[in-house]
Amino acid sequence: MSPFMQSLGLKYPIFQGGMAWVANGELAAAVSNAGGLGIIGSGHAPAAIVAKEIASAKALTDKPFGVNVMLLSPHADEVVQVILQAKVAVVTTGAGNPAKYIADFKAAGIKVIPVVPSVGLARIMERVGVDAVIAEGMESGGHIGSMTTLTLIPQVVDAVSIPVIAAGGIGDGRGVAAALMLGATGVQMGTRFLAAKECHIHEKYKAAVLKAKDIDTLVTGAYIGHPARVLKNKMSRQFLVAEKNAALQNDVDFAAVEQLANGSLRRAVETGDDVTGSYMAGQISGLIKTETSCATILQETAAQAQACLQQGRMENYF
Ligand SMILES: Cc1cc2nc3c(=O)[nH]c(=O)nc-3n(C[C@H](O)[C@H](O)[C@H](O)COP(=O)(O)O)c2cc1C
Repeated sequence: MSPFMQSLGLKYPIFQGGMAWVANGELAAAVSNAGGLGIIGSGHAPAAIVAKEIASAKALTDKPFGVNVMLLSPHADEVVQVILQAKVAVVTTGAGNPAKYIADFKAAGIKVIPVVPSVGLARIMERVGVDAVIAEGMESGGHIGSMTTLTLIPQVVDAVSIPVIAAGGIGDGRGVAAALMLGATGVQMGTRFLAAKECHIHEKYKAAVLKAKDIDTLVTGAYIGHPARVLKNKMSRQFLVAEKNAALQNDVDFAAVEQLANGSLRRAVETGDDVTGSYMAGQISGLIKTETSCATILQETAAQAQACLQQGRMENYF
């Protein structure tokens, strides 16, 4: 545990990624109660829904937890106001630059940790005064950049002097140990927590994650400029065909194609719809075979990471 992770009041240097429509107050509280950092995903939800989830988490835990702000959301300004009033411990941000909110977060004693897909954005974030960055590789579920975790983490670690949390493709203690070896201060896992007992996504979605093999994800939205990693299903295959067809036409109208994605994660989470719903999940899905509690996930992951780090002593290899 680094001083930074200790300053967050954590037992394990493990964040549960703030996942839109997935990571509610109950999941975040379960992770925080078990010694990790639970993070509520606000996605494109209105501020009132985010306020309700924060209240739910507060009722279930007295441990620190976070909220993820999707900066592209039309509700981002109101969501930030809710977070400032609630004085949650940590804010993570996705899809942009949180610079305009940082002074207010700092004044409220809230730590700001943006998700970054590249060295360039990590540097910009350090300059605007964030506390740490989450460097996320394209193995991850949901919206992604183009770098892999193995290549991104050491380059970000070398480029900035703030703590770096690794995300993307980490599903057990071996992944945590590897991330720490690359210079990360801790990790963020999303896909692993889709299979947590306290994660109330629709049972069809959860079953699909548990059944998925290593090669069962694909990336939609690459032509449109918003790549996202999802499980292969009817929706994702149809989306790929639609965007390729649009790209092949001279007069490209991606708006109609993008319309297919609107609300698709929410449909998957709430109704299990795999015809028009997006089962967002990362490449590590193939490793995840059992539904267990958040406490078990954290304990097993930490114990395995410790064992790996001990085995990794030089005398075992050289
Ligand atoms: C279903 C799902 C929804 C997600 N939604 C968000 C989001 O709203 N904001 C965000 O910053 N990251 C989001 N992510 C990314 C996660 O927070 C996390 O960084 C990522 O899942 C880590 O990679 P992994 O899936 O390989 O563990 C999402 C991921 C998944 C699987």
